[in-house]
Parts: sequence; structure tokens; C-alpha cells
Amino acid sequence: MIRLSQVGKRYGDRDALRGVDLELPKGSLNFLMGPSGAGKSTLLRLLLALERPDAGQVEVAGINLGTLPRRQRPAYLRRVGAVFQDPQLLADRTVYQNVALPLQLAGYPEPAQGPRVRAALGQVGLAGAEGRLPRALSTGERQRVGIARALVHRPALVLADEPTGNLDPALSAEIMGLFQRFQQVGVTVVIATHDVDLAQRFSGQALHLEGGRLVGRAALGGAS
Ligand SMILES: Nc1ncnc2c1ncn2[C@@H]1O[C@H](COP(=O)(O)OP(=O)(O)O)[C@@H](O)[C@H]1O
Ligand SMILES: [Mg+2]
Repeated sequence: MIRLSQVGKRYGDRDALRGVDLELPKGSLNFLMGPSGAGKSTLLRLLLALERPDAGQVEVAGINLGTLPRRQRPAYLRRVGAVFQDPQLLADRTVYQNVALPLQLAGYPEPAQGPRVRAALGQVGLAGAEGRLPRALSTGERQRVGIARALVHRPALVLADEPTGNLDPALSAEIMGLFQRFQQVGVTVVIATHDVDLAQRFSGQALHLEGGRLVGRAALGGAS
């Protein structure tokens, strides 16, 4: 699903990523770990085709992202779900409208949007929240709306950058549990987190980055 070979990314005179080789199979659950500045977000931005590598190749589902023409990026992003620390919901739109937004932007036919939006909300346990506004939701609920919005396209790949960064331990475990469920239905999941204890509770793979290098891979416990 994902193949990186000798990937490098520079910002000025600083290497954000260096010589990264990585293959992640379809349907795998992967935690990108490492201290702040290790290169986790940079790697996710490359996988989102938001930036191009300066060296090596980044390939997702057979698509070489380093040479993907800019006009083809929207079509690529429709196959990918992205989740960030702050879901950045539109404050004046309901939960339903926020989740439907990617479908609207993609020109998805209006009548077909409802079932997709409701399915995505159901998957994150927010089936009854359609008509609510973001300010009427808890922090954990807002993050789940962000995840529903990322899923509404039924992406084959979900990328999350510190998705539990704003949440307490109980909510964090709940959100990670959601990602695990997507993985169980065949979605490839890559989550950047510095929360080692949390990741340990899930079965999957830890990928350790340090100073822009991939310094280790390990199977996680999955004790929960
Ligand atoms: N847009 C940018 N401009 C300049 N330097 C950047 C930029 N993005 C990241 N970096 C640098 O690249 C390195 C890796 O950053 P990042 O990928 O954000 O790490 P992480 O997400 O693991 O904390 C850091 O040294 C950071 O300062
Ligand atoms: Mg980061």
C-alpha cells in the first residue's frame, strides 16, 4: 500500500527526513513514534502529497507522489482520510454539514450524500448528533466529527497526526480504538503520536523516527 525508498526531505539546511525505507501493507495499523522534531508530520505530509520528497520515492497504491501532477492531487486525496490534532470544524455549520463538506467539494450528488454522512457518523458513535453545532459538542465529540469527515469518502488510507493531542487518556484510548476498528475492515492506518503508553495498548506496528531517520520497527502489545 505504502512504499518509501530512500526518502529525504530538507528544510533549508536541515534534514527533516533522511534515507527512509519503509513498506506498509494494506490493512496495517502503524504508529509513527518519536520525539518532537523527529519528522513524523513531515512523513505524513509527504503521504498526503502536500509536499514532495527531495530524494527517493514515495508511492501509495502504486501512485508515485513525487511526480503526481498538481491537478491530480484532489483525486488522490479522495482516497485518503486525514485527521489532525485540531479538527478545525466550521463553527456555523452543523455536524452533518461539516461531515458532508468533502463530498460537496468533490461534487458528489446531493441525494447520495445523506447515507454516506450517516454511515460515517454511525462509525464514530455520533449517529444522533447530526443537527448539533460544534460548540455544543465536547472536545472528544468534535474530534470524532473530524474523523467522520475523514472517513466519509471511504478512504483506503487514513493518516492521523497527533489525533489525541488535545484529549485526556480515556478519550485518547477511545479515539485510538476507532482507528483500530477501521484497520480491522481493511483500511491502512498511519498515526503519528508521541504517546508510547497509549500505542502499546494496540496491536500493530511501531515505527520509530529520530532525527529524520527510521531507527526502529517493533510489534506492539495489543494488551487491551
Ligand atoms: N515547514 C517547515 N519549515 C522548516 N522546517 C520544518 C518545517 N516542517 C518541519 N520542519 C523541521 O523538520 C523537522 C521535523 O519536523 P516534524 O516533521 O514537524 O517533526 P514531528 O512531527 O516529529 O515533531 C524539525 O526539525 C522541524 O523543525
Ligand atoms: Mg508533528
